[in-house]
Amino acid sequence: VSTVNTGVVLARRPAGRVTEDCFRLVERPVPEPGPGEVVVRHLYLSVDPYLRGRMDGAFPLDEVVQVRVVGQVAASRHERWSEGDLVWGFLGWQEWSRVRPSGEAVGIEDRLWPVDPAHGPIAYAISALGMPGLTAWVGTFDLGRPEPGETVFVSAAAGAVGSLVGQFARLAGARAVGSAGSAAKVAHCVDVLGYDAAFDYRECRSVGALVEALRTTCPDGVDVYFDNVGGPTLEAALRCLNAFGRVPVCGMISRYEDPDDPGVKGLINVLAKRATMTGFSIYDHLHRLPGWLPRMAELLRSGRVVYHQETWQGIGSVPEAFVSMLAGGNVGKRVVQVGDDPTSGSTAATSSAAAGS
Ligand SMILES: NC(=O)c1ccc[n+]([C@@H]2O[C@H](COP(=O)([O-])OP(=O)(O)OC[C@H]3O[C@@H](n4cnc5c(N)ncnc54)[C@H](OP(=O)(O)O)[C@@H]3O)[C@@H](O)[C@H]2O)c1
Repeated sequence: VSTVNTGVVLARRPAGRVTEDCFRLVERPVPEPGPGEVVVRHLYLSVDPYLRGRMDGAFPLDEVVQVRVVGQVAASRHERWSEGDLVWGFLGWQEWSRVRPSGEAVGIEDRLWPVDPAHGPIAYAISALGMPGLTAWVGTFDLGRPEPGETVFVSAAAGAVGSLVGQFARLAGARAVGSAGSAAKVAHCVDVLGYDAAFDYRECRSVGALVEALRTTCPDGVDVYFDNVGGPTLEAALRCLNAFGRVPVCGMISRYEDPDDPGVKGLINVLAKRATMTGFSIYDHLHRLPGWLPRMAELLRSGRVVYHQETWQGIGSVPEAFVSMLAGGNVGKRVVQVGDDPTSGSTAATSSAAAGS
């Protein structure tokens, strides 16, 4: 058993585009649990777009970056948790962590949630069966509320959240249309995820070209635009929105690294179309996880919903996995495996430089 706990800290704040040298690997001793504490061996780490925003100020320098982790309790001096329990929590880009688990009243970084392998692959607790999955669910069904025959358009359509939105739209009887950043992703959307149509937004050099692509792929207009990217795509979608259209605003990744955000033109379309734009944060919906999980697990088990996950290997691959995900290198959800998965026999590469999907 290793005695070294390698972690990834934020070494400096990014100026515009984040680069791998914004991060540094640190080695610390594997922690021991004190009274009321638990030590978790990390198995899978998440890389998420929202982390980029926090790197501008919220995350302290020289501390391990806080992210969602699937792990296994290695030692416990807490009555609720036992050695061997599978858990997830906001435990950070590192191989081990010490947690003093607390109730819901305290910050989420002090909480552990159980992971039930009966629901599906345990790594899904930070993807399809976790926050990205619930985000797609809440945004589509609660805010988008697609009706049979309507058209749902989603951007970042091949990603962790978007890949589910298109499939949920189809479950509701709607047409699903997606935009993504390469021909391979467009093919993935249509051939694997079952989108009715998709287009490569990088081929569209102007808002006008995006509008053209939307008019071609959504001949009856857009009833729901699930926004993951903001910027020109949002502008074009507002122009193509039908009367009483709904726009769940999930993310604006095209603006996360742009300090000179030029804003969105054409907001008058919200008025003209009597549209509803609703920003939402999944943190406000975490209490729904236990009730939602069995339904989502059944959709995956039955094959009615498919999910694509890329697994990178080794703590040393985290900076590259994160930076290239922001640039569009991922298809589906990207996670980094740092420990042997006790439920699948999937072993983690120990080399800190090993990467690849
Ligand atoms: N509201 C919430 O509670 C909540 C929760 C989770 C996620 N989110 C948001 O949901 C969105 C998707 O997150 P995710 O975890 O599913 O990530 P993801 O889609 O798996 O990965 C991010 C993708 O964004 C696309 N992208 C990057 N730069 C872009 C740009 N300038 N214009 C358009 N697309 C760009 C890239 O795909 P392409 O190759 O297609 O460019 C990249 O693969 C993000 O905005 C995230 O912040 C919000």
